[in-house]
This record gives sequence, C-alpha cells and structure tokens, in this order.
Amino acid sequence: MDLTTTYLGLKLDNPIIAGSSGLTDSVGKIQKLEQNGAGAIVLKSIFEEEIVFEHEDILKEAEADGVNLDQFDYYDFHLKGEKVKKYIDLIKESKKTVSVPIIASINCVYSHEWISFAQQIEEAGVDAIELNMFFLPSDFSRSSQEQESMYFKVIERLLETVSIPIALKISYYFSSLGQMIQRLSNSGVAGLVLFNRFFSPDIDIDKLKIKPSFVYSTPAELAISLRWIAIMANKVGCDLAASTGVHDGNAVVKQILAGAKAVQVASSLYKNGPEHIRTMQDTLKKWMTDHDYPSLSDFRGKMSQEAASNPAVFERVQFMKYFS
Ligand SMILES: Cc1cc2nc3c(=O)[nH]c(=O)nc-3n(C[C@H](O)[C@H](O)[C@H](O)COP(=O)(O)O)c2cc1C
Repeated sequence: MDLTTTYLGLKLDNPIIAGSSGLTDSVGKIQKLEQNGAGAIVLKSIFEEEIVFEHEDILKEAEADGVNLDQFDYYDFHLKGEKVKKYIDLIKESKKTVSVPIIASINCVYSHEWISFAQQIEEAGVDAIELNMFFLPSDFSRSSQEQESMYFKVIERLLETVSIPIALKISYYFSSLGQMIQRLSNSGVAGLVLFNRFFSPDIDIDKLKIKPSFVYSTPAELAISLRWIAIMANKVGCDLAASTGVHDGNAVVKQILAGAKAVQVASSLYKNGPEHIRTMQDTLKKWMTDHDYPSLSDFRGKMSQEAASNPAVFERVQFMKYFS
C-alpha cells in the first residue's frame, strides 16, 4: 500500500499533516507526532505582532544604550529577540530530532516588517514556510480589491526573500473566492491550504460578556473545504491541502478523492491524541484495499468537480429537494 504523496515539492510518507496548533509548539510534542505517523508537521505560528513588537522593543533598547541605529545590524538584533530566537531554536531542534518535513508557520496581516525574519527561518533549516495571512474584511475604508492586493504584495516580497517553498493558508472571506484561489495559486506559492478556521467570538447571555466560541472544529465542518478542494482541484497552479473538519480516515479519503495532495489535522488530535493519526491511516488503508487502489494517485481527484459524473452538485447551494 503506497500512502506517499508530494506536497510543496516535499516527499511525505503519508498525506496526514499535523496542522499548526499548540500541539506543534515543542520538540517533545513534535517527536510524538512523528512517532504516531504524521506525514509532516506545521509548527505553531509565530505571529507578526510578536516579531514586529519585539523588534521595536529591541530598537528602543538599543537606542537607549547609545547604539547608532544607522549601523544597526537588523538580523543580529532580531536574533536577540526572545520569542524569535525561541522559534528559530524550535526549528533547529526539530530538524535535528525528527526526519519528517517541518513547515514553519508565520501568522501575518498587512505589514512587511517581519519578512526579513523569514530569512532566518530558512537559514534554520526548515523545509517550507506556511503563511497564515488574514485580516477580517471589516475595514470599511478599503475596497475588496485593495484588501486582496495585500496578499500578492506580501507573497511577492516573501518570494524575493526566501527560496524554500511557501504555502499560503487562507480563509474563504474573499469577494470572488474561486478566482482569488486561482490567482493566488499562480502567484509563485507552492501550495494553498483551504481553509483556516478562526478563533470566533460568542456572547455569554448571562454575564453579558464576549467569550470564545467553540475552539475545536466538528466533523460537519469538513463540507466547506471539501467543496472548494473539489471545485479548484484541476484549476490551480499549485498543490492543495485540505484543512478544517478532518476528524477521521473517511474524511482523508474524501479530501483526496476531491483532489487534495494532503490534509491537515488539529482538532481531532486535540480530542483523540496523536495516536489518532494511525487510526486515520488504518481507515485510509482499508478503504484503499477494499476499492483496489494501491496508491493515492490512483484515486486522487476522482471525485473532483471536473471528474465527477454530476459536477453541478458542487455548485448547488439551495436545499431545493428538501423544501419541495
Ligand atoms: C488550539 C488551536 C490553536 C491553533 N493555532 C494555530 C496557529 O498558531 N496557526 C495556525 O495557522 N493555525 C492554528 N490553528 C488552526 C489549525 O491549524 C486548523 O487550521 C484549524 O483548527 C482547522 O483544522 P481542524 O478542523 O483540524 O482543527 C489552531 C487551532 C486550534 C484548535
């Protein structure tokens, strides 16, 4: 049974990637994920704010110490930043300890200031970078075109800065999602992750306070990424990885049938532990045996919109039959 796949030009033993979360923030946890069969691991994100604020603090400190900021070595001072240094150390230690591909994750919004940090990430030996880029389109002063052009500017700068593959993890908050996914896939990134799931607010109606809503996804949330992986599978210029709602081996099968090169899992590992990766693999292998598919490439994309016998179903959005 051949579970291997390629994603971002990297060879993975199997398509189940441990997604970026608190489960990927230490070497011990990463080692456990590898032992339990993760095909690759995306590290917990470092946030743009952490990089930029830390840099500003260091600059202030250096100025107070009488350092001539014109001759300031940006990279050296970056490395003195505690959070940045910790992240670089996590990459270096992980690369020494495990052999599965390690993907660093940067969580960013508009600014370009953090981009030089990506060079340090590359130098630390990571296999790829996943850019988790998002700003809620609630800025009334910016048009959708202005908002969306920011993605391309950041990607362009990052591509100029590093030569390792870049994946972009996106949301579905775009004015024309299909076209945007296609344009992003041709921007030079090696992969797109569809889709990120965000921390969302809820309201406590007794205390009249804002509280976090459900932190973990449910299996029902698979539907959105499944639809868009299937629609986009043969229309993009890069790899697609599916994220959100992948809780069991059947969901892995579905996403590969839709056309994904890999899946990312987070919530199901929180709920079931890293051992759950093996359970998912067992289900995947059993399904492949039962259906006589010796390798993933034998069935990848077989149920994409282009390949499906009833492609219109991926675009149906109203519950016509249920109501009539
Ligand atoms: C507790 C928690 C922490 C997370 N932290 C990050 C993060 O730092 N960076 C990131 O890109 N995604 C983060 N995510 C999002 C996951 O990587 C993933 O995209 C999302 O949870 C949907 O996948 P799932 O349905 O398998 O959970 C986090 C998710 C959870 C539940």
